[in-house]
Amino acid sequence: MTYDAVIIGAGAAGLMCALTAGYAGRRVLVIDHANKAGRKILMSGGGRCNFTHLNSSPANFFSDNPHFCISALKRYRPEHFVELVERHGVDYVEKTPGQLFCADSAKEIVRVLLTECEWAGVELRLKTSVERIERHGEGMRLLTSSGAIDCGALVVATGGLSIPSMGATGFGFDLARQFGLSVTETRPALVPFTLTSQWKARAEALAGVACEVSVRTLRAGEPRGHYREPLLFTHRGLSGPGMLQISSFWEPGDELAIDLLPGVDAFEALCAARRETPRRQLSSWLAEQLPRRLAQGLVEWHGGDGVLAERGNAELAAWAAYLGDWRIKPAGTEGWRTAEVTMGGIDTRAVSSKTFAVEGLPQLRFIGEVLDVTGELGGHNFQWAWASGVACGGAV
Ligand code: FDA
Repeated sequence: MTYDAVIIGAGAAGLMCALTAGYAGRRVLVIDHANKAGRKILMSGGGRCNFTHLNSSPANFFSDNPHFCISALKRYRPEHFVELVERHGVDYVEKTPGQLFCADSAKEIVRVLLTECEWAGVELRLKTSVERIERHGEGMRLLTSSGAIDCGALVVATGGLSIPSMGATGFGFDLARQFGLSVTETRPALVPFTLTSQWKARAEALAGVACEVSVRTLRAGEPRGHYREPLLFTHRGLSGPGMLQISSFWEPGDELAIDLLPGVDAFEALCAARRETPRRQLSSWLAEQLPRRLAQGLVEWHGGDGVLAERGNAELAAWAAYLGDWRIKPAGTEGWRTAEVTMGGIDTRAVSSKTFAVEGLPQLRFIGEVLDVTGELGGHNFQWAWASGVACGGAV
């Protein structure tokens, strides 16, 4: 059987590419080794899929080749995907400003994509594994568990390495190397931190406590990245949007510098509290600024509780410094098991930013997360999947 395009990977990018190519009149086949299409979509956003971010722009992405993502993101914008879901009657909510989630379930997004694929005449073959890929004349030949398949263009949309239990593989990277492309260093990103024994016990005791913080990483004293988003203590360590975001900058050995009272001049606030309520305990003031259990923990770790009137300026300054620059050195991250995305991937310098074809080998294309383009938390990764899928699907 010969197709104009075969897409490996029935995920966000693969399905978007397939429906776009199908509507353009191409004969399209999507194959996936999983037994269900869009499994990561289904588990995303806590089951409600944060399907885009209204303000998504190239500035929200990391890549060794930062200009690569601009063209596709410009051509297919968040409002285009919003128009698609609205056309299918999907209810959605804007949670944090700009972040759009399904009001009901992520299943709605998979339904939209599969319906569109059906309307566009796309063929879908699940539970199909690819054994070998080779050049075949001007096209490509795939040897699969359901026989040989020939195509004019092969689109690889096999995603990143996160959540191997959901079918993630290094297939796309191996294939890229087979055809002479390089792959930049990969590591888990948007991932919670794990802690060592003393800090692990502290986090465990605070599991479930959350508060807004401002966080940076410090490498040899040099700050990297900056986010003002919630921190969540868990049984394993530190999570929440702020920690997931900063994990994209973090490398083993880096410290986290956390401002527990972002936007507040803690020294000024402490001096004002001492002036206005001199008989108050410092811990009671702290419990008004932060979740009570965290406030108690901080007093226990830092020491020096007592009546505010008896605390000198130097003591209040030390407390302010502690609250504004709380240091933790994570032991590591939870790794691929829970990471939302892969930082790094196929080097985009040998890939066209317009068509996603490999330079000198136009019958081979790569889209979505398998490429070295990684978004911040908040719907940017799906926006990249949609945008790269549409750009490639319109060009195969
Ligand atoms: P994706 O991973 O979606 O699809 C790849 C497909 O290829 C899969 O169907 C897989 O089975 C298939 N495949 C892999 N190897 C294969 C092989 N060898 N043979 C055949 N098929 C193969 N992003 C966001 O913007 N908002 C959000 O809310 C979330 N939430 C979220 C939660 C969790 C828990 C995770 C793990 C991830 C997110 N993400 C996210 C990230 C987002 O899910 C991710 O960036 C996109 O799904 C990437 O789309 P792709 O199509 O590139 O890969």
